[in-house]
Amino acid sequence: MMKKILITLSVCLAVFIGCTNDKDELLNPLGSDCTGVNASFVNDVLPIIQANCQGCHGAGSTNGPGQLTNYTEIKNAATRIKNAVVTGFMPRNAAPLPAAQIRLIRCWVDSGTPNN
Ligand code: HEC
Repeated sequence: MMKKILITLSVCLAVFIGCTNDKDELLNPLGSDCTGVNASFVNDVLPIIQANCQGCHGAGSTNGPGQLTNYTEIKNAATRIKNAVVTGFMPRNAAPLPAAQIRLIRCWVDSGTPNN
């Protein structure tokens, strides 16, 4: 009897912990931890945007935030960029960015969009 209760309790706890993690996963699909992620604008963020976004957000673009070609433009649109790539809304007409790239962009924005 005691054993049954213990097993039931363990299962409940496992499910509970599982759900807590799921919720974090839902809010932060790639984990919310940016520890050890030293995202650089020049080495990480800019190349990702050049490769995946500038076809539609290049010079003269009026799509959404418009041009995303340099630090100032990208910084000014940082929160929108973060939301767009985390949700997979952007890049448009393409698969969402790989998780590691989304994390770099998110952590760069969350660390205050340094020009590094
Ligand atoms: C195939 C073209 C295309 C590509 C590629 C593309 N975008 Fe866009 N983007 C658009 C268009 C068009 C809009 C205007 C909103 C709409 O009509 O969906 C837009 C809107 C946006 C917005 C505004 C969203 C909002 O409403 O807050 C952001 C931010 C954005 N894009 C960022 C990006 C980033 C970052 C990438 C690369 C990872 C990217 N886009 C790739 C075409 C594109």
